Amino acid sequence: MTQAAISRETTSPPLFEQVADRIREMIDAGTLRAGDRVPSVRRLREQFRVSISTVLEAYRLLEDRGLIVAKPQSGHYVRSRPREPLAEPGRSRPVRRAKRIEEPLSMCIVSTLGDPTKVALGPAVPAHELLPSQALNRALGRVLRRAPLRCHQYDVPPGAIELRQQIARRMIDAGCSVSADDIVITNGATESVYLAIQSSTRPGDTVAVESPTYYGLLETLHALHLPVLPIASETRKGICLDALEEALKGGRVKAVVTIANFSNPTGHCMSDKRKRALVQLCAKHQVALIEDDIYGDLPHEGARPTAMKCFDADGGVLYCGSFSKTLTPGFRIGWCIPGRWQAEFERRKQMLNHMTPTATQLAIAEYLAGGGYDRHLRRMRRAYREQTLRMIDAVARHFPRGTKVTQPEGGHVLWIELDPRVDAMKLFEDAGRAGVSIAPGPVFAVHGEYRNCIRLNCGLPWSPRIDNAVQTLGRLVAEQMG
Ligand SMILES: Cc1ncc(COP(=O)(O)O)c(C=O)c1O
Repeated sequence: MTQAAISRETTSPPLFEQVADRIREMIDAGTLRAGDRVPSVRRLREQFRVSISTVLEAYRLLEDRGLIVAKPQSGHYVRSRPREPLAEPGRSRPVRRAKRIEEPLSMCIVSTLGDPTKVALGPAVPAHELLPSQALNRALGRVLRRAPLRCHQYDVPPGAIELRQQIARRMIDAGCSVSADDIVITNGATESVYLAIQSSTRPGDTVAVESPTYYGLLETLHALHLPVLPIASETRKGICLDALEEALKGGRVKAVVTIANFSNPTGHCMSDKRKRALVQLCAKHQVALIEDDIYGDLPHEGARPTAMKCFDADGGVLYCGSFSKTLTPGFRIGWCIPGRWQAEFERRKQMLNHMTPTATQLAIAEYLAGGGYDRHLRRMRRAYREQTLRMIDAVARHFPRGTKVTQPEGGHVLWIELDPRVDAMKLFEDAGRAGVSIAPGPVFAVHGEYRNCIRLNCGLPWSPRIDNAVQTLGRLVAEQMG
């Protein structure tokens, strides 16, 4: 990009158009790629010797052309620009029948966790580079020195008051005013959801879940021996309320579990209007609504989305949260706001394992009290945004035409619908042999649906190794299509 590239002849196009063209050329040549920050106003002004308003007009033109996007207080970024825009998957069509999960398929993904020989696009793990591990280590050291006796003794639910107070403060961002007394600390969101379901159902009750859904939830329902009814969901909208209402009329469903904010695996975020309608629908049918909000703190842009809990008028929502995706999965710290099931929830937590380790609870409380969490989240959100855009871009470049992909607005997973001829379980095997792990669609299904779908993890910092892995996947997909 040189000054000479800009012509001041009266017959030449306006200056702002020429500046915009130079940036477009850089995008076309791959010098600037999806997720990259466009050079700042100051840099462009100096480089082209134009005015600030010319640069701003050039930005505007590129925004109108859909090539870049402005991010408040951060700058302009290159948008994901596939060769041709990729469509998003439509409404899912799960089998409308409840079933006990006999054999969860998800063990195949778990077996790839921590395998250094594979590019980890399967498990939805955050990259350790993005976690504030050093700060957490220091906080852990401090609490162990300060309260050694307390850290080595038994405790009882609901858990450390210091942590519950910090969580209550953070829940304000999600639109909820709760007190520390409303919160019970758990071993991650997994235990929170497990106990929430167990506390609000009886043996034999049916649990409705959006489909596709997080495979760990299906494992939990397998462990609880409860029949599971998959409910259709729609990209960008979440669980289909019409399908759910129909199911609730049957009277067998006693609990609904949803991931309303940046669902795993589809990444959708429900609007406030639909969240409120869902809470009201469950209240009308006297059905517990279990909200897994593990990704709520990770919007790519803008404010944190609300929790459904904030629309809860009668304690019918059991809110489940965790620090596994934002701070550390290894400390195993989650929580529940169980509403009217709180006494039962605490009783079951006590029976299951008495307590969550005090040292890690206090370390996270100490970290949160230190005030660095919001700064850390801003960094993490930026990274996930960029990595997700790059992944979409790579899928657009390497996968066959007709591939459909979600455009998540938060979190770090992508859901991809492939040609119907593609068998995701075979792709999982072939990709594994080629050194790439993926999450095949059927692990997110109750009845083995989504055979031609996969989920990719965008949690890892972008690198040529990941681009090569996506290229390998694209080739294997094309081979299956013949
Ligand atoms: C939607 C969802 N819920 C729960 C979990 C598990 O959370 P935790 O590690 O806190 O038990 C995950 C992990 O991937 C998840 O994606």
